[in-house]
Amino acid sequence: MFGLGWGDEGKGKVVDLLCPAFDIVVRFNGGANAGHTVCVGSETFALHLLPTGVLHDTAVGVIGPGVVVDPISLLAEIDTLAGRGVEVAGRLKISERAHLVLAYHKIEDQLSERAAGAEGKIGTTARGIGPCYADKMRRTTAVRFADLSGDKELTPRIRRIVEAKKASFAAMYGEDGGLSSQAVLDDLAQVAERLRSHVCDTTRFLHEAIESGKSLLFEGANGILLDIDHGTYPFVTSSSTGPHGIGPGAGVSPSLVTRLIGVSKAYATRVGAGPFVTELNDAVGERIRQRGREFGTTTGRPRRCGWFDAVTCRYSAQLSGATDLALLHLDTLSGLDEIGVCVAYRCDGQTVRSLPASVSRIERAEPIIEYLPGWQEELRGVRQFEDLPKNARDYVDRIEVLIGVPVTLIGVGPDRSQTLVRGTLRALVKSAEPVGSEK
Ligand code: GDP
Ligand code: IMO
Ligand code: MG
Repeated sequence: MFGLGWGDEGKGKVVDLLCPAFDIVVRFNGGANAGHTVCVGSETFALHLLPTGVLHDTAVGVIGPGVVVDPISLLAEIDTLAGRGVEVAGRLKISERAHLVLAYHKIEDQLSERAAGAEGKIGTTARGIGPCYADKMRRTTAVRFADLSGDKELTPRIRRIVEAKKASFAAMYGEDGGLSSQAVLDDLAQVAERLRSHVCDTTRFLHEAIESGKSLLFEGANGILLDIDHGTYPFVTSSSTGPHGIGPGAGVSPSLVTRLIGVSKAYATRVGAGPFVTELNDAVGERIRQRGREFGTTTGRPRRCGWFDAVTCRYSAQLSGATDLALLHLDTLSGLDEIGVCVAYRCDGQTVRSLPASVSRIERAEPIIEYLPGWQEELRGVRQFEDLPKNARDYVDRIEVLIGVPVTLIGVGPDRSQTLVRGTLRALVKSAEPVGSEK
């Protein structure tokens, strides 16, 4: 399961629905930049690093080698969930190969964004994601969970890394970020102690689980348009966000993955900077933002809103080999006289049907919009596809044709129950138990 857009497609809700059918839920990319929201009755949970699946006490959550883990943020998340009746003890496994996001990564993220200025910045979540993945690729300044298990070299190495970071920040940004190697070492001591019981060889754990017939659900974070290789570079995150990230990020071969559920909204949103061809900077965009509560789960920033973009969605669906399209937030579009769908771009005098690589080319593109009639009815009480207003059904059918992937899940509200499931996906959606303190 993965996002087809620029993140926040509703992946948390889809994982939560699918979870009862799976033994293990695996995060394979990103870090605390993710914010996955799950609404069950009066309870709302927002997860950042923990796989959303841990909300179900029947599931084991795995943080794979491809995730960059801010351990302080992870501990806070574990404590918050415990306070709400969700215990992860014995059900959370963290790869010893996963890299740690440390204080200097978050400082560098902020310093580099500030230095880039309003025009040049990416609009990151400031969670240290890019700097941590950069250290991982650089290889000489990275810290993994495996390094925390009593390696005497770690303390002098951390001191050397922090001194090098301070010097490089001072040279690049004119300040050393107020870094202290002792503060980083204190964080690591706390982390090593509290997370020790969770850290293991998750790759071996997953392969043993597969051999014994257990079922695995891979929970993508971010979205394919934010992918480091295939997204709207450089306005992307720093990991492989689609199913192609499962191999390196979880240590499981793509040949073992049998179903690929791509999640999209019935319109488009984006947080942060970067091109967005169908963006609506008008009253309709504002209406979608308010009705859909389009404010970031991680940073609270207002999300940019626009019409559904079949060019980017088809691109992401093809790239990922999606077998199913989960289309969320159909309810948010109620009350509009007509609804736009972008079927192609007009760019430099040409009609373009696939996403250009060049950001400046995407920025010059004009959307070619097909307008479909809207519907006035509220959809949140609907539970069967057949009970949707005809114009809503036609809208879904049109998207299915444009993307070429069956729409097997439709969201008509944030709650777990506000979901229409179609076709063979029905077999995977078992009725779920309530989570947390309501148990
Ligand atoms: P994720 O990062 O992909 O998990 O998505 P987020 O949780 O960041 O953002 C999606 C938001 O939409 C959350 O607040 C969800 O509760 C909400 N949501 C999910 N599906 C639907 C839906 O079908 N309708 C409405 N109105 N809200 C939804
Ligand atoms: P979920 O999993 C929405 C965006 C940021 C920024 C760019 C780079 O909740 O869908 P980063 O901090 O990763 O270096 O930021 O990527 N971004 C997201 N936008 N949802 C997310 O995650 C995102 N993760 C990263 O806004 O534009
Ligand atoms: Mg999100």
